[in-house]
Amino acid sequence: MTTFTTSGVTARRWVAICRLDDIPKLGSRVIDAPQGRIAVFRADRDRLFALDDRCPHKGGPLSQGIVHGEWVACPLHNWQIALGSGEARAPDKGCTRRHPVKTEGERVWLWLDFAALAVAVEIAA
Ligand code: FES
Repeated sequence: MTTFTTSGVTARRWVAICRLDDIPKLGSRVIDAPQGRIAVFRADRDRLFALDDRCPHKGGPLSQGIVHGEWVACPLHNWQIALGSGEARAPDKGCTRRHPVKTEGERVWLWLDFAALAVAVEIAA
């Protein structure tokens, strides 16, 4: 049994989410994380980025956007979001939250915060 705490010490950790080949080249894979939907993008040269799957404009699903270079074009109104920072390209303004992601061999790891889940469990108890 796994116990989550809100101390911040045991509530955050790296989690293996998939293999690199499970993410399409110039595409993404969505992870249903305790803190919400996270889109993990695979840019050219297999560089990985992770952002909330939510456009800073009106919440469009960035995971369904088109990846080009180190940008994703939101499918709703075509805002360009930098994969590395989550910032919208000027003159648009806004930012979506980034998440640490890494590979070890063929495995993809995402840094997840289970504090939100722990709070939900405490509220439900
Ligand atoms: S919701 Fe993404 S550009 Fe409008």
